[in-house]
Amino acid sequence: MSSAADQARWNRKYGDPAFRSGHAPNPRLAAAARALPPGRALELACGLGDNAALVAAAGHRVVGVDVSEVGLARARAAHPELLLIQADALRLPLAPGGWDFVICTYYLERALFPWLRAAVRPGGALFFETFTEAEHRRRPDFPVGFCLGTGELRAAFADWELLAWAEEADPALAYASLFARRPRK
Ligand SMILES: C[S@@+](CC[C@H](N)C(=O)[O-])C[C@H]1O[C@@H](n2cnc3c(N)ncnc32)[C@H](O)[C@@H]1O
Repeated sequence: MSSAADQARWNRKYGDPAFRSGHAPNPRLAAAARALPPGRALELACGLGDNAALVAAAGHRVVGVDVSEVGLARARAAHPELLLIQADALRLPLAPGGWDFVICTYYLERALFPWLRAAVRPGGALFFETFTEAEHRRRPDFPVGFCLGTGELRAAFADWELLAWAEEADPALAYASLFARRPRK
């Protein structure tokens, strides 16, 4: 799906005041944020800002980015302390590198993996979590294109130090969750 189509789709969803993310605030991200010393954090596809807010509550200075201006308006109203930028994650107006902590949850764009690897400073950390194909098997109407293959996320960051890793398929949700440190050299 193109970024413009994604933007329109998410603007429609966030335009319904009853719509909430089923995946934020994320308890695994909260634990990861608390495990790191306070630093500069970047969240891609931050949606309604609930994850960015919990990272900020752990002491990090957070910048959130999302393509949906409707979602960001709600995020700004709920979390006025956050710095939020409307941008397409695939055409970010930010240089990669220098971030102590980069976060991306429930937004899968494989073309971003090289950018994510470069965005985290050496010794910094990434938290990435999203659906696996087991979610598509559980809910066949859920597009397989939004799902990671088994072991795919771990393999994409195989040379990073694992701080936490889970690949779970429980009755409610099938996801892979990676918290990893970029090598210092
Ligand atoms: C399933 S929601 C996840 C939101 C949040 N990360 C969470 O875990 O609840 C996907 C998010 O990706 C955003 N998104 C989709 N395409 C994007 C793009 N090209 N650039 C930035 N954000 C995008 C949507 O606006 C939406 O907020």
